[in-house]
Amino acid sequence: MPASLAVRRPPLVLGNWKMNCDVAFAERLLAELVGQAPLPVEVGVCPPYPYLGLAAARLAGSGIGWGAQDVAAQADGAFTGEVSSTMLADLGCRWTLVGHSERRTLFGETDALVAAKVARALAAGLVPVVCVGETREEREQGDTEAVLSRQLDAVTGELAQAGGRFVLAYEPVWAIGTGLTATPSQAQSAHAFLRTRLVQADVSGAASVRVLYGGSVKASNAGALFALPDVDGGLIGGASLVGEEFLAIVRAAARRC
Ligand code: PGA
Repeated sequence: MPASLAVRRPPLVLGNWKMNCDVAFAERLLAELVGQAPLPVEVGVCPPYPYLGLAAARLAGSGIGWGAQDVAAQADGAFTGEVSSTMLADLGCRWTLVGHSERRTLFGETDALVAAKVARALAAGLVPVVCVGETREEREQGDTEAVLSRQLDAVTGELAQAGGRFVLAYEPVWAIGTGLTATPSQAQSAHAFLRTRLVQADVSGAASVRVLYGGSVKASNAGALFALPDVDGGLIGGASLVGEEFLAIVRAAARRC
């Protein structure tokens, strides 16, 4: 039996608000989500750091979780501007994104830095959502699997210690915020590749780890993506800022159950 079918993986939908929102916007969006709780699958939002406390207050008891978009690689100390994994855990975060392509591309995060962040997240009891994905040029040159291997292999040492308490997000860089989405066959093949690689690396719990798809997911394409055997949910950017759209994506994920 292929690894993808061996274990039931409950869908997960995460909203990545990126550097958007203000207090009033966050209040409205959180209220809209809470108004529909309990949601039919596991759902979380990742607001900017200053709004995590607000998310914690408004989402407490709703079943909807919250997480961060990034985390420091250091434990604590003189690191101006950084936010530690223990602070995030203190605020009740369940997840933190790590290695989002915008961090890698715009802020120069290396594979080694991503691995250090994964280690910090795990040490604080957070579930790291490790983002990987190829650029358009890399795909066109036939390098997709080489890039995914490099990015994943950089963190498998950390993930091997995690007892399956981590999430992967396949986010082709060319699909993020562009309106372009991976075709179902491109997404399925990348997701299956990532899972097989985890199994080959002997990472415990590899068959049950959720691999999310991210990159221009909308209510209109979510159903086709979430129907794929190795797509276990989504990491949603732009569409997570529109309550009704995000909730429609959540309902699409529930049809996977
Ligand atoms: P998008 O972003 O849904 O706006 O393409 C996804 C992401 O960057 O996580």
